[in-house]
Amino acid sequence: MKTLIVANWKMNPSTKKEAKKLFDSVRKSTKGIKNIEVVICPPFVYLSLFSGLKLGAQNVFYLSADRQVKKSGAFTGEVSPLMLKDLGVEYVIIGHSESRKYLNETDEVINKKIKESLLIGLKPILCVGETDEEKNSGKKLEVLEVQITQALKGVMKSEAKNIVIAYEPVWAIGTGNNCSVDETMSSILLIRKIISKLYNREIADTTKIIYGGSVDSKNTNSYITQTGVNGLLVGGASLNAEEFIEIIKSL
Ligand code: 13P
Repeated sequence: MKTLIVANWKMNPSTKKEAKKLFDSVRKSTKGIKNIEVVICPPFVYLSLFSGLKLGAQNVFYLSADRQVKKSGAFTGEVSPLMLKDLGVEYVIIGHSESRKYLNETDEVINKKIKESLLIGLKPILCVGETDEEKNSGKKLEVLEVQITQALKGVMKSEAKNIVIAYEPVWAIGTGNNCSVDETMSSILLIRKIISKLYNREIADTTKIIYGGSVDSKNTNSYITQTGVNGLLVGGASLNAEEFIEIIKSL
């Protein structure tokens, strides 16, 4: 299994020029790297400017439920899975804690977005993770179980292999307070157990699970070698070309 390194640029950078510069530096420096799958998730508006590296979107809309895809329609401000697919986008981040918090994204909406993305052939990166409060009140397992079970409701075994799960404890995002190796390892095991319960052991063992939350070039290696993750979802550090390249090269 190739290690998956995903850059989540969030709402950055502010100009097309900066975005191009960042993308080009990463593209040039990662040329020829074979053992790592690098995916860049820029804001929607920059997606069509880029080629030469795998792309992911940071969100997507759902048009209809029940496995019937409307290709387009009257949904002001939204972007459909088909539009992303047509641009050559391969991945889509769904259920990021920032979307859950600021856009009130619910598990039900996340589930619809996942199913529609899979139908179109996009690979969802489902983000899950507990808040500080949930962690301190011993609710981590419950939170992960609800988020994953609800998000994957109705997702068939044959589709499950196209899903990536990103474990992103909310308290570790953008704080510099990255999750310890031991805790990450135990969360990854919990997530595999939940997937095993939902599907089977084989799917649980082969599903790509990545970690996100204050990842940098100094802690990258310990996550990959000691926690059982299959990759990383990098926020802040992916906006600095040198640092992001360093993350990739440290593997
Ligand atoms: P940071 O790496 O900035 O903590 O962000 C993580 C994240 O939210 C990636 O999706």
